[in-house]
Amino acid sequence: MADGLEPELVELRRRVVELERQLERLGGEAEEQVRGARAQGQALLDNIPHMAWMKNTEGVFLAVNEAFARACGHDKARILGKTDRDIWPSEHAERYMADDRRVVATREKVLVEEPIVEGGTLKWFETFKTPINDSRGTVIGTVGLARDITESKRHEEQRRQLERRMQQTQKLESLGVLAGGIAHDFNNLLVGVLANAELGLTAARQTHASRVIFDRLNDVRKAALHAAELTNQMLAYAGRAHFDVRPLSLSEVIREMGHLLDASISKKARVEYELAPELPAVQADIAQMRQVVMNLIINASEALGDRVGTIVVRTGIQDVTDELEDLYGPSALALGRYVFLEVTDDGSGMSDETRTRLFEPFFTTKFTGRGLGLSAVQGIVRGHGGGIVLRTALGQGTSIRVLMPPSVAAATSVVRRAPVVASEWSATGLVLLVDDDAHVRTVTELLLRDIGFEVLALATGRDAIREFRERAEQVRAVVLDVTMPDLGGDQVLRELRLRRADVPVLLCSGYSQEEMGDRFAASDLASFLQKPYAFDTLRSRLRELLERTDR
Ligand SMILES: Nc1ncnc2c1ncn2[C@@H]1O[C@H](COP(=O)(O)OP(=O)(O)OP(=O)(O)O)[C@@H](O)[C@H]1O
Ligand SMILES: [Mg+2]
Repeated sequence: MADGLEPELVELRRRVVELERQLERLGGEAEEQVRGARAQGQALLDNIPHMAWMKNTEGVFLAVNEAFARACGHDKARILGKTDRDIWPSEHAERYMADDRRVVATREKVLVEEPIVEGGTLKWFETFKTPINDSRGTVIGTVGLARDITESKRHEEQRRQLERRMQQTQKLESLGVLAGGIAHDFNNLLVGVLANAELGLTAARQTHASRVIFDRLNDVRKAALHAAELTNQMLAYAGRAHFDVRPLSLSEVIREMGHLLDASISKKARVEYELAPELPAVQADIAQMRQVVMNLIINASEALGDRVGTIVVRTGIQDVTDELEDLYGPSALALGRYVFLEVTDDGSGMSDETRTRLFEPFFTTKFTGRGLGLSAVQGIVRGHGGGIVLRTALGQGTSIRVLMPPSVAAATSVVRRAPVVASEWSATGLVLLVDDDAHVRTVTELLLRDIGFEVLALATGRDAIREFRERAEQVRAVVLDVTMPDLGGDQVLRELRLRRADVPVLLCSGYSQEEMGDRFAASDLASFLQKPYAFDTLRSRLRELLERTDR
């Protein structure tokens, strides 16, 4: 080797060694930097409060954060290199991986709601998945971020349920208003139908008319009475039926109805009574309680169809200490002691669909049903501050329990009025008849004249007050409609009483609880006539009223 080259070679070697050292130092620093960056990245990931991860295109985990590890219950290190299939229940894993494949294939982000089993409980997450690319734009994997939305989803569901219930309540309320209005107008019309049929019957009897006329008029009368029953159910549903509330024993009400009930149900049904003897009283309208019992027992009998079966009518006491799960009717019932009346049958039972709709007015599953029976029951029970508990299943019979708040007063006994043989009674004197409905006026005037009265028929409250001022002493009785456009019956009544305190007044109305209950004293309500009235009822109410005041 030439001498001149030796030192150069030595120098070169020295520089090579120096360069090697430099390189080593740089490599160490770079490695240090990479390690630092990785730690920073992991710290960043771990401080995200939601689940976060990165996967390659095969769905293999490249990175996960603390929240992810906590949710699936594995160590972070053990998750890397695995796929969803190794971590989650298989049906969920397949769903997650399908979403990943979609992101890789379409190169588009997705936002999905997905179920995740965390520590054994099912939760819902909102998951955001994004494709990641290398510098050349090739997709090399996905990143994901999942936020727990279980709570907000639950709130949302509760809100939706509340809204549904409110809509249902509103729907039922407006149906109630509608039903009440229809019933009121129908009752006025029915006064006309019923009274004309009865006047016709009287005329037919007096003129010895042919049997055919007699029968047809009787049919008209029966149909009108049946229609009155329906309007009565509608009024009850609307909560606008006449309310005459006093302390009653439900056991006694049922016992006293006995024969009526037996006559209304199928011959194949056996009725058993289990009536608690020492039942606390309830504050209730007896006619409406009868309507409740009747509607429940008829339904029970119809649920038996042609089969032989048993209906059990039970009364007793139930302490409500917790929210009742199968409570229908009002949305909640105050805790405490209730008196119950229950009708149980071993008939058809109800499907789930029927169970959710049975209290809707006009909902029926029967060919000739009107769908008003239970609506009326519900309206009545609601009006009395009670609740309804339903137990039923298809093919397993039904039990409907009506819970009524007990009254503080003791029950007055249910004395049945001895039926007055009304057609034998006649009377004389001047009756002031006040009703804004011309139809009602005409026929009621005819009925009153038939009893023997002289009648002054008036269309407005003002006319009534004016006429009464002139002949207060002559008036034997006043038949007064409660709902009139100019002056209400209560105002008219007050004016009449100012003039002559003892004048006998018979109030009539197509409804209603609020109009009656709030505006009239109980003593006035005692002489109340529900429209439409049959001739006999008008006659016997007037008779009662006059005999009471004559005494
Ligand atoms: N005891 C029962 N067993 C089985 N289903 C019943 C029972 N009571 C009521 N239902 C169901 O609830 C529906 C509504 O009852 P609801 O008494 O309101 O009307 P309805 O009996 O069909 O007609 P309406 O009483 O006006 O003649 C019935 O059609 C029936 O499907
Ligand atoms: Mg019914």
